[in-house]
Amino acid sequence: ANRRFCVGGNWKMNGDQKSIAEICKVLSDAALDANTEVVIGCPAIYLMYARNLLPCNIGVAGQNAYKVAKGAFTGEISPAMLKDIGAEWVILGHSERRAIFKETDELIAEKAEHALAEGLKIIACIGETLEEREAGKTNDVVARQMCAYAKKIRDWTNVVVAYEPVWAIGTGKTATPEQAQEVHAYLRKWLEENVSKEVSASLRIQYGGSVTGANAKELAKKPDIDGFLVGGASLKPEFVDIINARK
Ligand code: G3H
Repeated sequence: ANRRFCVGGNWKMNGDQKSIAEICKVLSDAALDANTEVVIGCPAIYLMYARNLLPCNIGVAGQNAYKVAKGAFTGEISPAMLKDIGAEWVILGHSERRAIFKETDELIAEKAEHALAEGLKIIACIGETLEEREAGKTNDVVARQMCAYAKKIRDWTNVVVAYEPVWAIGTGKTATPEQAQEVHAYLRKWLEENVSKEVSASLRIQYGGSVTGANAKELAKKPDIDGFLVGGASLKPEFVDIINARK
């Protein structure tokens, strides 16, 4: 398959001007694999700052955006605003948005639809909890989440899916390459049956959940893993090793 490797960093609610300047300098100075697309999910308040500090071959992403362009939605930001300050991407449906902020499959899909209509690229997150995995429901859960997106997304060109098992996020309990590959392969089968052969073959699917400089290379060897969405390690210099996992 001819899918460009794509690595996202998700800084979540971390960093300040000083630490962001430091990590941007590390990324600017590093020899990054030119075959890998890199995007940094930055807290909204620092997006412009990070955009100015990063080289133009590294994209920046909002970590969330609302489903309409403007209006009386105190505290929210819109895809139009992200585009206006030079962000090209937005992360949507992260498990923390789902679990802590109670975002539903339907709201997330509406956000995806609007962000795509505004011309942003999206990282659409999915993934099962430990309880769901142990109950043997992993495939059902990711299919349900994909189904919600598929109801709203017509053109998948600007979509990257991030499969992030919730039990692997921030826990140090990375999915094994085999566990991740198994779900990624299932997602491709689901896409082939429910969207199209073309989308199944071309859509990039990232793995996320305790990815580190040490485990990225093995995960990156799996045929259906097309990149990573990285939390904790994206705040550290080892993010460079993750970007270069296929080098
Ligand atoms: O979006 C990133 C994921 O939540 C992974 O976070 O790498 O800290 O486990 P983590």
